[in-house]
Amino acid sequence: AVIHRADYQPPAFWIDTVELCFDLDPAKTRVLNRMRLRRNPDVPVQPLRLDGEELNLARVLVGGQGTSFKLEGGQLVLENLPEGHEPFELEIFTTCAPAKNTKLMGLYVSNDSFFTQCEAEGFRRITYFLDRPDVMASYTVLLRADRRRYPVLLSNGNLVDQGELEDGRHYAKWVDPHRKPCYLFALVAGQLVCREQRIASRSGQEHLLQVYVRPGDLDKTEHAMNSLIDSVAWDEARFGLPLDLERFMIVATSDFNMGAMENKGLNIFNTKYVLASQSTATDTDYANIESVVGHEYFHNWTGNRVTCRDWFQLSLKEGLTVFRDQEFSQDLAGEASARAVKRIEDVRVLRTAQFPEDAGPMAHPVRPDQYLEINNFYTVTVYEKGAEVVRMMYTLVGRDGFRRGMQLYFQRHDGQAVTCDDFAQAIADANPGSKLAELLPQFKRWYSQAGTPRVQASARWDAAAGTYTLTLGQTCPPTPGQPVKEPVVIPVAYGLLDDQGRELASGLHVLTQASETLSFQGLQAEPVPSLLRGFSAPVVLEFDYGDAQLLALLAHDTDPFNRWEAAQRLALARALRFVAQPHEPVALDAPFVDAMRGILRHPTLDAAFKELVLTLPSETYIAEQLEVVDPPRIHAVREAMRQQLAQALQADWEWAWEAHQVGGAYRPDPVSSGRRALAGLALTHLCLAARASADPVWPGKAYQRFKDASNMTDRFNALSALVVSGHELARPALQRFHAMFKDEALVLDKWFALQAGAPDRGGNVLPAVRQLMQHPDFNIRNPNRARSLIFSYCSANPGAFHRPDAAGYVFWSERVMELDAINPQVAARLARALDRWNKLAEPLRGAAREAIARVAAKPDLSNDVREIVTRALAD
Ligand code: ARG
Ligand code: ZN
Repeated sequence: AVIHRADYQPPAFWIDTVELCFDLDPAKTRVLNRMRLRRNPDVPVQPLRLDGEELNLARVLVGGQGTSFKLEGGQLVLENLPEGHEPFELEIFTTCAPAKNTKLMGLYVSNDSFFTQCEAEGFRRITYFLDRPDVMASYTVLLRADRRRYPVLLSNGNLVDQGELEDGRHYAKWVDPHRKPCYLFALVAGQLVCREQRIASRSGQEHLLQVYVRPGDLDKTEHAMNSLIDSVAWDEARFGLPLDLERFMIVATSDFNMGAMENKGLNIFNTKYVLASQSTATDTDYANIESVVGHEYFHNWTGNRVTCRDWFQLSLKEGLTVFRDQEFSQDLAGEASARAVKRIEDVRVLRTAQFPEDAGPMAHPVRPDQYLEINNFYTVTVYEKGAEVVRMMYTLVGRDGFRRGMQLYFQRHDGQAVTCDDFAQAIADANPGSKLAELLPQFKRWYSQAGTPRVQASARWDAAAGTYTLTLGQTCPPTPGQPVKEPVVIPVAYGLLDDQGRELASGLHVLTQASETLSFQGLQAEPVPSLLRGFSAPVVLEFDYGDAQLLALLAHDTDPFNRWEAAQRLALARALRFVAQPHEPVALDAPFVDAMRGILRHPTLDAAFKELVLTLPSETYIAEQLEVVDPPRIHAVREAMRQQLAQALQADWEWAWEAHQVGGAYRPDPVSSGRRALAGLALTHLCLAARASADPVWPGKAYQRFKDASNMTDRFNALSALVVSGHELARPALQRFHAMFKDEALVLDKWFALQAGAPDRGGNVLPAVRQLMQHPDFNIRNPNRARSLIFSYCSANPGAFHRPDAAGYVFWSERVMELDAINPQVAARLARALDRWNKLAEPLRGAAREAIARVAAKPDLSNDVREIVTRALAD
């Protein structure tokens, strides 16, 4: 049944304490749950309804006595409970089957170890409970298991006791000193080893940090540990938020639905975001590890100390924590230019993933109003757009004002389960004179309105008066269930440049009306406007820039974001023109090519920034600009543009490759990573250029680099250059790569992903993907592996997936249905690959609709997949 935000009711009972005792066994784990409950005096008297899923119930005792109960729609219902408001004891004994748990929610087994995932509603798969975030309890956990198979026994908080039992079993007892909602519960048991580090916080308190992995992986934990140490120091320095635990643990598992989980004191991570060595992980992997370790650690305050009242408030913790992890990565990057690179990367994610979501059938506000399955709302809208909403507040109150706002938020709400309103109110109240405080009700439309607002800017130049007038308007297209939109508060950071590139004016305009006018007096000549600097709001900016203006911004803007954006606009305008003219050749003009050369050869710009500028807008981003989308056509145009850049700039790419080699010991810092990224881009273009001339030199160099590289970034970039250019050396290189890394799961994921994401040449990708499904290393039950092969094809390779013969869609529907029987969360993610079916050109559109309908017609579909396909068909 659909759940509505407006229907929120406080719980009828509170749970004060929970004592859990686990007898861990893969086939049948026994769970004894002793709770102390009391009626919530603010709620009318009613039965206790506890959530449960796939549990075998053996016994229920109230105050030590047997009691009557019913099972209703999965819930355990107790009607004859003590009257009055005194606490009472409830004891529930259940069993579950972790080895059979393929959904990876609740308690499951991976590589002979036990792990849990409880957010959002997985705790009910462990025991009957009030599985909702506003019920916070104190937990004591006793774990018992076979000592040899499960030497390490972990749960939240502090280890208070451990010892031997009969029959080769042992136990560990954990007490969490902090109250928490059940979604933050965790346990881990298995053969694990850990890297340890003791640190002292500013106040002098000592903490033990641990990173647990499987025995062979210890040498890949240094970066995760360093990232954790940096995270602890950063939250204390930037926000005054210290670590509130004696012991903080991270555990890695190779079977995990998402990236990682912020369980109190016992974060559980996908191995992808923990394990790194220079020979197995790329610079991007290193950066992702830093950001995810930070993200989960920062949840300790924004999520755990202050949590969500209900799951509609998810962005309260996720939007805020993404904002915090973005700031963390920027602060660690240091230099202004490295910060800007991180900002551009974040905006690129927002625009290629969140903007399409906001324009499609799954569009929902940052604070959704309804859901069928909450797992479907762990989205780029809740996370990344949510972070942009927090960032706009930050912009409106300033850095110090935001820190004050955070302090007030914790003063008011520490230990509580609250709403997005409470957060916005605290930031505003701490900054009474700010625009945020002045405009708060209107600002909060960002939480309630779905869809990406569009800002229409136009300019008038009155030469005689020396007056430049900018008109800014805003509109927002309708989204499902929201036909009419109100104006939102849009901070527009801007600057005006003269023809020499000097800055004439700059500021922040806070747009609140449907249309507003700004005027600038006393100018000598028409300026070039640099609008939405730093991407100051998550909107589409429409301004009819001429090429000359964009070239001026690309050459001179002091705002690196808009400098990059100018290049993106130049490239996008060309791509759209070529897409619209299928009979004209794709021929890039000299001014554009020269501008690209100018950036590539620029004497002072960072390599990382150059790499971003010289990367063409993605196919997905180009598609979003069009009413009717023909993905193979977009792919062909983008490939042709890239091929021309490869050939026209060949000498420059050669220079770039030579000039950006990184010597010395491997370090994944922003400067070295940027140099490797640009060298990698150069190598790809050189191999593409060689395609046209059939010159074997550069493919030969790429193969050599592939063989000799001393780190995964260089090795993988070289392999990718061969695959992307379709050179015959790609085949032996892929074979060799597999042989080298056959025991490295995360590297094999890259191997599968590279092949599934390769440019389509005559429809060759789908047969290759189908064949790889039969590979002995493929396993659809492992989410990382399923993502690396199936998602890389269906979601990340539009040119190959959208086949006119619909075979890509057939493959998609088969996999969605196959996965749904194993792991509905993963299946529902895959289901979203066809979100934008309604924009496809015929015959793709009809074929895609048919494939979705085929999935929707399956009788025993999960709520997860059903919600996605039902919404899609209603589009
Ligand atoms: N709270 C986690 C994070 O953002 C994500 C957990 C998502 N889990 C899920 N089942 N949807 O770090
Ligand atoms: Zn999170």
